[in-house]
Amino acid sequence: MGHFDSMLGADESLFRMAAALDYDHQPKMVPYRENEQQQIALCIKPLLAGRNGRNAILYGRPGVGKTVAIKHILAELEEETDDVSAIYINCWQKTSSYKAMLDICEAIGFKFTQNKRTDELFQIVAKIVNKGAGVFVLDEVDKLEDLDLLYWILEGVYKKSIILITNFENWVANLDSRIKSRLVPESIQFKPYNAVETKGILEQRKDIAFVPGVWKPDAFDLVVAKAHTLQDIRTGLYLMRESGQTAEDASSKTITDTHVNTAIAKLPDFTSKDPEGLNDDNQFILQLVSELGEVKIGDLFREYEKRGGKSAYKTFQRRVATLEKGSFVATKKLTGGAEGTTTLVRKANKGLDEFA
Ligand SMILES: Nc1ncnc2c1ncn2[C@@H]1O[C@H](COP(=O)(O)OP(=O)(O)OP(=O)(O)O)[C@@H](O)[C@H]1O
Ligand SMILES: [Mg+2]
Repeated sequence: MGHFDSMLGADESLFRMAAALDYDHQPKMVPYRENEQQQIALCIKPLLAGRNGRNAILYGRPGVGKTVAIKHILAELEEETDDVSAIYINCWQKTSSYKAMLDICEAIGFKFTQNKRTDELFQIVAKIVNKGAGVFVLDEVDKLEDLDLLYWILEGVYKKSIILITNFENWVANLDSRIKSRLVPESIQFKPYNAVETKGILEQRKDIAFVPGVWKPDAFDLVVAKAHTLQDIRTGLYLMRESGQTAEDASSKTITDTHVNTAIAKLPDFTSKDPEGLNDDNQFILQLVSELGEVKIGDLFREYEKRGGKSAYKTFQRRVATLEKGSFVATKKLTGGAEGTTTLVRKANKGLDEFA
């Protein structure tokens, strides 16, 4: 046995399909969410029989399978029928009704969008979708800066299911009553996975992503335990990739708990985006920013105090800085206005969805 037998050759890799670790990789199966998918399917099913569908709001922490489950359902729907348009919008990427509308046009194959206003585009969309029916999924809906789109769909599409997805359970409760009374969505909760489920999901991805046998069982269990503690499957995917890379950099033929621990040490303080991991005061401030839209920090503080916030201004400022660091809010300095320099605060459009 030479010295190099236990080492990985320069042209060898521990990965065989690293893309399976991407957060947006769509696995063939979405286990442990059968009930939730069944509930969603029941909302959509009337559309297949030519009747109106029901609306739903899916809520739960980051990384618990909301997006992957809905995409699985939409794919099944598209296989089943051509009469129901399946439209998925990520409102984190398309924060305005106009941008979201362009996505919808693309989804239904309408190309002549230039020089048209959002409401004009919607008239066209409604005409096309109303030939049959539509499922509209607005993922990360709390990131939408205006709710015109939601209102238009409610009013202008006759046979539809609107599926909203958010991390915030009470997002709907704070909506304008004009929308709320039309929406009346069914609530579908996505609870965090237990340890067995977390392991099952990560194992499925591991077996696709890695060469068989490279993971030491202890090392993999460590990944599962961490992902389970943080209640976020994305953490597990991140750790698998990072551990594999660390092992490969060390030319190791196996991935051991040393490699996993190195990867864990690199986990950022803020795991993906995790509003529930924030303390109450931070959550309260974030909620205010969501409600107020773009707001001067002074006005935000006054509103905060008015609604019972207890922290002094300095602490409050620090909390806003923490929210900014976690990509929950964005700030912009304004100089030279009537009030001198001030800071504008708004909800962030881009988050730490990717660790990289
Ligand atoms: N039941 C499951 N089966 C297979 N993969 C899963 C399952 N649940 C989650 N995943 C995987 O975990 C990752 C995170 O899931 P997903 O993107 O659906 O989370 P989410 O609930 O939409 O989170 P967020 O609120 O941050 O958008 C994805 O890569 C997804 O494929
Ligand atoms: Mg999601």
